Amino acid sequence: MNKIAIVYGSSTGATEAVAEKLQSALGDADLFNAESVNIDDLKPYDFLIFGASTTGIGDLQDDWEMLLPKMEKMDFSGKKVALFSLGDSASFSTSFAGAMYHLYKALKGKVEIVGSVSADGYNFDESDAIVDGHFVGLALDEDNEYNETDKRIAVWVENLKQYLN
Ligand SMILES: Cc1cc2nc3c(=O)[nH]c(=O)nc-3n(C[C@H](O)[C@H](O)[C@H](O)COP(=O)(O)O)c2cc1C
Repeated sequence: MNKIAIVYGSSTGATEAVAEKLQSALGDADLFNAESVNIDDLKPYDFLIFGASTTGIGDLQDDWEMLLPKMEKMDFSGKKVALFSLGDSASFSTSFAGAMYHLYKALKGKVEIVGSVSADGYNFDESDAIVDGHFVGLALDEDNEYNETDKRIAVWVENLKQYLN
């Protein structure tokens, strides 16, 4: 089994709570806060899950905003990355869960990004996180659709398992 690290950026705790749920669903993964993680901490891991909440208008959570430039020179060889982001599809229906697009844009071409998700079943008008008809990772809405979160995580983790052996 590959070694998994989850790196989350959370301003008021929702993404942190989701990261903990993901950790439980995966069974064996280490958690890092984007606020304090060092790039070198991530060296031993084959599979990286990066998650962030969306702020501003479709912007990346602040701690990730600081961390992402430091990843420019990171050696991703042999690694895979999956992304998730949180948003509020009622209040921010035209920039829903856009945070993960910034991660995607920065990492595309540097590392294999897996775990795209169909937009079926979500309620929003626009999202930068939709590329080629799919979310570039798992979108979650703890403000309005918290009832869906456990199921969405379970389905996503099941899908990720094909990349974890
Ligand atoms: C100032 C502010 C701006 C936000 N902008 C967006 C946005 O553009 N798109 C979106 O989907 N959600 C947006 N949200 C909602 C948050 O992403 C959402 O509430 C999330 O669950 C917060 O997670 P956290 O507690 O881990 O930071 C915004 C929230 C705040 C407070």
